[in-house]
Amino acid sequence: MAHIAGPTTPTRHESGAKRGPDVERLLALQAFNARLVCMTVDENSYQEVVNGVWKVMGCDFCSLFLHDEASHSLKLVGSVGYEELDPELEISLADSASMHIQAFAEEYLVHVNDLTDQYGIKTLSADLRSSLAMPIIANSGPVGVFDFGSREVGAFSPSEISMCSMLVDQMSYSLENIRLVNELSRSRDAVIRGMALLAEIRDSHIGGHLNRICAYSKYLAEALLDRPGYSEVTPTFIDTIARSAALHDVGKVGIPDAILLKPGKLTVPEFEVMKSHTTMGAELLEGLMRDYGEYGMISMGVEMAIAHHERWDGGGYPEGISGLDIPLSARILTICDVYDALTSRRVYKGAWSMEETMANIRENSGQHFDPELVKIFLARPSDLQAIQNQYPD
Ligand code: C2E
Ligand code: SIN
Ligand code: SIN
Ligand code: SIN
Ligand code: FE
Repeated sequence: MAHIAGPTTPTRHESGAKRGPDVERLLALQAFNARLVCMTVDENSYQEVVNGVWKVMGCDFCSLFLHDEASHSLKLVGSVGYEELDPELEISLADSASMHIQAFAEEYLVHVNDLTDQYGIKTLSADLRSSLAMPIIANSGPVGVFDFGSREVGAFSPSEISMCSMLVDQMSYSLENIRLVNELSRSRDAVIRGMALLAEIRDSHIGGHLNRICAYSKYLAEALLDRPGYSEVTPTFIDTIARSAALHDVGKVGIPDAILLKPGKLTVPEFEVMKSHTTMGAELLEGLMRDYGEYGMISMGVEMAIAHHERWDGGGYPEGISGLDIPLSARILTICDVYDALTSRRVYKGAWSMEETMANIRENSGQHFDPELVKIFLARPSDLQAIQNQYPD
């Protein structure tokens, strides 16, 4: 007889039920949990979740369906044991005879102890004799359904149901968290790329500039790895600077075209406006962090946006800080930025030769630039040339 269990979890009504220790299951459960915590969600990993649950329960059939808003259905994302199941199976939310839809719509567990002669209930296989469909409920509401099935009548005792319920609870939290984390990091990456690209499109000189800036910054940061005095430089630092260097000029999206794209030299007031690209970039990125949370790449981006026009001698902008008060990421970026600006053509200037550029940077070492970083950066010109060749305009 089919029945829909109440909203209390079986664990609660079966709290007095005897459940002998089952070491194999606990081990499988532990492995399953560990897996859930580390996994990133894609189509294959849903199948892995199903495999994990199936290993813990040892039942004949298991499957996982997730709600798809667009098609008003539950979509199959993974299954074990159901041999003839269409991998693209979708169950319409309107199909009220389906156990899965009942569980989803009622947000209750549906348990059918004996499916023999239960013609009114749709199941996934004619071989099923008992089955359990459990809604997966996230903070936002039901997000899917997990089912357990057996070829035996009455396979799911109260203690089995408790175990299933525990697994599905665990899954609800993890699936939701993983989904959110992935979505967030995807949207962060999209926003960051979008902003960097926007700046690039308007400021037409940039071309390969972003790629080169990232490559030069990575190159200089790598040269600092394991050097005394640069304990801050770790593989993570290198990875982060290589990506976030592209953000240093995002504030240029806020500079009027008439100034940003002016073919000639800027007037003093125009240059004053131009200087605000540093603070505007930092504000933009700080706003992102408020919306999406602290994120290594963005916080280094803030540092670089605000400080990449500071000078070692304190004569830069916007704050006029000097020397080691300027964050390392910004000191690195300043050299790379100017090196690339000089070796490239701009609306307001032609490209300088590598020799002229290196001479200029050496001349300004200790005034504009951190002298130690200049030495390291310019030590192997052929490496710089290789980066320039790799990313032409
Ligand atoms: P940018 O073109 O990416 O240049 C970055 C930095 O490279 C400049 O920061 C400056 O330190 C250095 N740099 C670039 N070209 C030259 C050059 O011909 N001579 C020298 N000595 N240094 C150069 P800065 O000066 O703070 O400028 C920031 C941004 O302001 C520039 O970014 C550019 O977008 C804009 N800008 C600066 N001067 C002019 C100008 O005369 N005309 C126009 N249209 N834009 C300018
Ligand atoms: C200038 O406008 O002062 C020269 C070009 C530059 O520094 O970007
Ligand atoms: C530069 O040549 O990169 C800037 C000019 C200066 O620092 O005086
Ligand atoms: C600057 O922006 O010029 C100061 C940072 C440095 O070059 O070390
Ligand atoms: Fe800049």
